[in-house]
Amino acid sequence: KIICSAAIRGAYQIVDKADKKLTEAIEQKGRDCKVEFPNTAYYLPIIYAMTGIPVKTLEDCVHIIGMARSMLPPLPAEKHWVPYLGHTLDAGMATLFAEEVYEVCKYLIGPPPVDGIWLGAADDIIMRERGIEFVDGTAPGFAAIVGCAPDADTAVKIARELQEKNLYVFMQSDNLGISFAEQLEEKGVQMGWDTRLVPFGKETSAAVYSLGFANRAALSFGNVPPGEARRNLLYNKNRIFAFVLALGTAVTDEQYANAAGAINYGFPTITNIDIPEILPTGVCTYEHVVSRVPVDKIVDRCIEVRGLKISIHKVDIPVAYGPAFEGERIRKDDMQIEIGGPGVPAFEFVCTKEADEVEDGKIQVIGPDLDDMPQGPGVSIGIVAEVTGRKMQPDFEPIFERQMHRFLGEAQGIFHMGQRDIIRHRISKDAFKAGLRLKHIGKIIHAKFHGEFGAIIDKVQVTLYTKKEDVEGKLKEVRAAFAERDARLGDMTDDSVNLFYSCTLCQSFAPSHVCIVTPERSGLCGSVSWLDGKAGYEINPTGPNQPIEKRKVIDDRLGQWDGTNEFLYSSSNRALEKVSLYSIMTDPMTSCGCFECISAMLPMANGIMVVDRDFTEMTPSGMKFSTMAGTVGGGLQTPGFMGHSKFYLGSKKFISADGGLARVVWMPKALKEELSEQLEKASKEMDLENFLDKIADETVAQTEEEVVEYMQKINHPALSMDPMF
Ligand code: SF4
Ligand code: NI
Ligand code: NI
Repeated sequence: KIICSAAIRGAYQIVDKADKKLTEAIEQKGRDCKVEFPNTAYYLPIIYAMTGIPVKTLEDCVHIIGMARSMLPPLPAEKHWVPYLGHTLDAGMATLFAEEVYEVCKYLIGPPPVDGIWLGAADDIIMRERGIEFVDGTAPGFAAIVGCAPDADTAVKIARELQEKNLYVFMQSDNLGISFAEQLEEKGVQMGWDTRLVPFGKETSAAVYSLGFANRAALSFGNVPPGEARRNLLYNKNRIFAFVLALGTAVTDEQYANAAGAINYGFPTITNIDIPEILPTGVCTYEHVVSRVPVDKIVDRCIEVRGLKISIHKVDIPVAYGPAFEGERIRKDDMQIEIGGPGVPAFEFVCTKEADEVEDGKIQVIGPDLDDMPQGPGVSIGIVAEVTGRKMQPDFEPIFERQMHRFLGEAQGIFHMGQRDIIRHRISKDAFKAGLRLKHIGKIIHAKFHGEFGAIIDKVQVTLYTKKEDVEGKLKEVRAAFAERDARLGDMTDDSVNLFYSCTLCQSFAPSHVCIVTPERSGLCGSVSWLDGKAGYEINPTGPNQPIEKRKVIDDRLGQWDGTNEFLYSSSNRALEKVSLYSIMTDPMTSCGCFECISAMLPMANGIMVVDRDFTEMTPSGMKFSTMAGTVGGGLQTPGFMGHSKFYLGSKKFISADGGLARVVWMPKALKEELSEQLEKASKEMDLENFLDKIADETVAQTEEEVVEYMQKINHPALSMDPMF
């Protein structure tokens, strides 16, 4: 009712404002001037997702503003009553289109969207990295906050509550007074993508960065084609748990317009502000577009309204606990102690024991605890977690160890780095003051091991050695165990096992995508090895990791078996029939969106280039990583293109059907350096001499022609190989 008119009024204001900004930009830069958000293949993502129009220039923006205007319903009289939401929804969408134009103009002529605490648009690297958390459920969604809390302490409280519920907090403001993000800053709260507290921008229009993020998730992970507006909206409504939290003293017309924009996606607005009238939606299942709740109930209410099911595993320690705290950094000045670091003996180690050797829940600190230690770096600690269980296998030890990174890092005030005997952890002064002691490290390990690996283990005990001489003594034993473990696992090959494992975790976003994980080919995200798959299946026999029996060989060279093809067919919902595990050219494996690297054929070079997501420049294929990702992802088979893990590059089975590692002609310098050890080893085994030097990088070749020139200069083996196709 009244809100309808306010939203429509707001939409008019915003379209006018964007129009004015656009005119200014054209005056300064000309109509042909290119526009873009930094490093994205999705143009202005809301417009692109909804209409399919790739906005590339200011000229294109003129058309979008025209379109937005035509979507504006007639301006209602003050008390005009609208019986259904249609008009308001259109006004909301027009608002978002106009705001994207407005914000992209700011990138051209200022004021700059990236300023102080404000981060502006997220690029595709961030979107994919964080998007996967929406896929695997680590983050169910986001809260978009506008305005400010009654005071800074309340702001911190709300932020922490949302963090503990694993939600991202996207912040924008109304430019009227202090903002929620500034309140957090005032209290010294760490913000940024790592802590999930993301300050996008100080104007209301920065709402498009939150919604743009959601739209890109639909395009990228959901494989929703650009322009399929309805599918995009439904995808967001069903998959992304999001809502707008409007805090402050008054809701402005512009905010109503944005609320109307958000409700198109099924994202309701919840507010603590006393608003005159509430509007029934008529089109979505929520009671209200905007509903009012007192500030201390607001987070709970948001959760209820959007129907989020949260399972928090309570860990009984004196500091907050949850994934949002994993990215938190502890600076030198803020740390009580630092464990490990260069030259300081320290380790963490998981080992399997007999049932009678482990007393569940026993936690021992042998040596001084924090109270009796000097503050600062150089602390030697050895953490030993001994586990037992009928389904426990020594092969699972490295998986448990790797998870300790997450388990310990999720405690507020513990910063966890490294693994095994190369660790460097910090504990903050604040956590110490709050009562955190070393025994709590044991408590976390105990609780989380039970919570997440309960299907495998029955008992866990943890011992922390805190005297340097003990740590040094234990280190010998521990290192021997690591070496033995590596030798055992290093010998495993695809031929030596009968079972592969599937991973279909990403199907919630890319429905036809299946990763087939083998000892010599890990999942394309790099975080699921064959062992992880095996452990995953033991932990949850009906989960995303299923055993795949290889059965009869169809083609040894390509890596096709009856078993793998049949599995693919049934679990891709019959979208795909065949997959070659070792080829990029013939039925390559599909990709979801979270690959660490993309390989792409360079036809002139008779080889492939490999690029990882940290490399954001142009590649010799004529596309940036972000553009290629759009081609490869979404659960499709695209011969000549393939997403894969970094690990797979060093494998003997890396595109072995197409000639293997010798086909690699270009990769970014940084990636080459990162993987040098692994690549050296692999190339030696394949009798490729000085091969690393033969792979061109961006310092010697930026185009395909330059790659070929370089290849000829150094006589790259791919030149004399069979044609790729
Ligand atoms: Fe997704 Fe594949 Fe990684 Fe599983 S292994 S999480 S399906 S990318
Ligand atoms: Ni538990
Ligand atoms: Ni994925």
